[in-house]
Amino acid sequence: MSDQETLPLGVKLTALDEAFRRNPYPILERLRQQDPTLNDTELVRRVFTRHDDVKAILRDKELLSDPRSAAEGSFTREYLGANLGPDEEPSMLLMDEPGHRRLRSLVSKPFTPGAVEKWRPRTRDVVQRVLDAISTDEFDLIADFAGPIPTIVIAEMLGIDASLHADFKRWSDLMVQVGFNPFPTDEQTEAADTAREQLHACFEDQIRFRSQNLGDDLLSDMLRAEEEGETLTHQEIVSQCDLLLVAGNVTTTDLIGNGVLALIQHPEQMAKLRADPGLIENAVEEMLRFDSPVTNSGRIAHDDTELAGCPVHKGESLSVSLASANRDPDVYPEPNRFDIEREDTHHQAFGGGRHLCLGAHLARLEAQEAILGLLQRYPVLRLSERGYTHHAIPSFRGMSECWVTTR
Ligand code: HEM
Repeated sequence: MSDQETLPLGVKLTALDEAFRRNPYPILERLRQQDPTLNDTELVRRVFTRHDDVKAILRDKELLSDPRSAAEGSFTREYLGANLGPDEEPSMLLMDEPGHRRLRSLVSKPFTPGAVEKWRPRTRDVVQRVLDAISTDEFDLIADFAGPIPTIVIAEMLGIDASLHADFKRWSDLMVQVGFNPFPTDEQTEAADTAREQLHACFEDQIRFRSQNLGDDLLSDMLRAEEEGETLTHQEIVSQCDLLLVAGNVTTTDLIGNGVLALIQHPEQMAKLRADPGLIENAVEEMLRFDSPVTNSGRIAHDDTELAGCPVHKGESLSVSLASANRDPDVYPEPNRFDIEREDTHHQAFGGGRHLCLGAHLARLEAQEAILGLLQRYPVLRLSERGYTHHAIPSFRGMSECWVTTR
């Protein structure tokens, strides 16, 4: 553990810090080299940065996720558990077995690759509609393009009235600002609480309506879902809708935004993709590796044990840096090179093991359709003078605005 004093800790390892937000990769490289199992005494968590350690921890079946199993004062208990009311169950992301398996199996069918593929034509339509609404040569790639697409797609999947799509986007943006943020301001917390109440009230209305009018949508599927004779309670349905919306929106917007930015900054890669759109699948995997929209995930130690050669204590918060794992030179030669034809595009961007992202196929499909649609619509696409800004949401990496010109 050489040189630990000089390594950044706490907030300096989150998007709230300007240097980390602008470019986390040199900092993560230092951690990987100097202390790959860093004891973050400020946020009270252990931070793992090497690819193989991150991969093994994500897949370790003994480790836990429910913040209520985390030690008092630890990162997971203080920050992730803090949003839970006393009688509230966490969403499946923060649940352990057997509850996690039950919920996941009840909602997973519409997210299999085959089921998601059926959404491709509708996603393509959504992309065209969003592009049709852009009427100027210069526009904000995030607000005008990458932002609306995932909300519209998930709201349509859930069977939610189109008139509510803009509210959905606003509510989920406000909630995500505090969801994984160790230091939300009072204002952010208040706004997120109000947004959550409004969103839940809206879900309750939609559930009541759908119970009497079952259709071909995800909400109806959840209402119908039966697995081993069990059904989902309305509260569970609300909590899953909430997760789908919050987990699926900012992340997919960030993937589209980060991916297009990488193409703009590597014009030879953009030209390659324009010349051969068949490269899109591999290109999106490389975008997920190169600039991962979710930078961190986590687990909780189930017992006193050793992980990655490091002793950990029962209840300790284990933070895994997906962003760092995906740039580990032991696994990816020249990890900082963006190359849409790379063969080693496997990555940890969707986590792994039991909690592997449920929406991975949907996110991939949306990004593929969005990016191809954008390139086909605009033969020229460059950054405009107004430039871009990264957002300050811990555990996520993406932009709050990115101005482009098509001239
Ligand atoms: C590029 C977009 C996305 C990224 C990078 C992403 C990333 C992740 C990550 C890292 C996890 C935690 C995995 C772990 O700890 O092992 C996760 C979980 C999850 N994601 Fe995503 N996600 C994306 C899009 C979506 C979408 C579109 C949806 C749904 C509509 C979704 C739904 C979920 C759910 C339900 C979980 C919890 C799964 C569980 O605990 O079993 N995600 N995602």
